[in-house]
Amino acid sequence: MINSTVNMHIPFLDLKGQHQQIKNKVFEAFEEVYENTAFSGGSFVEKFEDRFAEFCDTKYAVGVNNGTSALQLAIIALGIGAGDEVIIPANTFIATAWGVSYSGATPVFVDCTSDTWQLDASKIEEKINSKTKAIIGVHLYGQPFDISEVQSICDKYGLFLLEDAAQAQGAKFNGVPVGGFGEMACFSFYPGKNLGACGEAGGVTTNHEKYYEKLKGLRNHGCKKRYYHDELGYNMRMGGLEAASLAVKIEYLPSWNQRRKEIARKYREGIVNPMIKMQAQPGWADSVYHLFVVTTQNRKELLNYLNDRNIFPGMHYPVPCHLQKAYSALGYKVGDCPNSEFLADHCLSLPMYAELTDDMVEYVIDVVNAYGNQ
Ligand SMILES: Cc1ncc(COP(=O)(O)O)c(C=O)c1O
Repeated sequence: MINSTVNMHIPFLDLKGQHQQIKNKVFEAFEEVYENTAFSGGSFVEKFEDRFAEFCDTKYAVGVNNGTSALQLAIIALGIGAGDEVIIPANTFIATAWGVSYSGATPVFVDCTSDTWQLDASKIEEKINSKTKAIIGVHLYGQPFDISEVQSICDKYGLFLLEDAAQAQGAKFNGVPVGGFGEMACFSFYPGKNLGACGEAGGVTTNHEKYYEKLKGLRNHGCKKRYYHDELGYNMRMGGLEAASLAVKIEYLPSWNQRRKEIARKYREGIVNPMIKMQAQPGWADSVYHLFVVTTQNRKELLNYLNDRNIFPGMHYPVPCHLQKAYSALGYKVGDCPNSEFLADHCLSLPMYAELTDDMVEYVIDVVNAYGNQ
């Protein structure tokens, strides 16, 4: 029974709610950066890097200007470039592929499974050839991919493993935080992420000193010593204001992630409508629910139905990477990655953020359960 006495309006995301809570602390941190004029790189970035490495249980973290740069620099740090191929899931945000393409290498798209919606390890080996150098697994929607399976393929063929952890700060695989499994892991701190900066930011974590040193040079014009450029470099430093906001927000992340898990549990237990399917969760996956994606047969109908009832879901993502116009030259066609294509046509992301109240969550559950019976 839908509680019609509550006048609900439930957006997909509510950044204002989160930022009002922490405004004073963030502004104090901004003031400190301002007083120190530490706007680009510097001590505030270093402080956040140390804290983030500790959070991920890795030896090192390197702050950069966004998650796409994190991927690009990680690929370059591995020495991957023109003529090389990198295997990535077709079901991901396009930036996973950009990171590969910017280096001159070619992304090779592999389908997701029909239930976890993550990279299907059983379809990887058929795509491996002498040009293949790495696999990027994506902890999509905040849920770890099958790292053991993908790692064993990397070991078998001598390939590098990268984690795209843009959506998964705090997620765990078999109880171990993501970020330290591959050669490097790439994070986005885009404002809407579980840990998002007040601005654009990203980062790379690693347990390997050689990558740490390499990344620090690459992000800073290829310099270790100022005005001495050892290699082709980039201006991809993290800003001080972004780092300061992240240093404040990371202390809230465990409780925000906990609240997301609680909401996900309510959705999982409460939504019993057989017209709605949810992501399968293997026992090793401890998701931080960046997104709560569901599928349904008639997505447009469900979307209109929810919108009419003041619930505004997202869509992640309406076109799988292999069918994006930007990659038409690679020659993929409909039918190449059927599970990813199905998902693109049938997915919706229910509202998911720590500030959702129990009443709001109950309202979403009731409305979704009533779908098809109205
Ligand atoms: C899976 C994935 N990879 C990479 C990125 C790129 O991060 P950014 O937007 O910070 O460049 C994102 C962010 O949206 C993402 O979701």
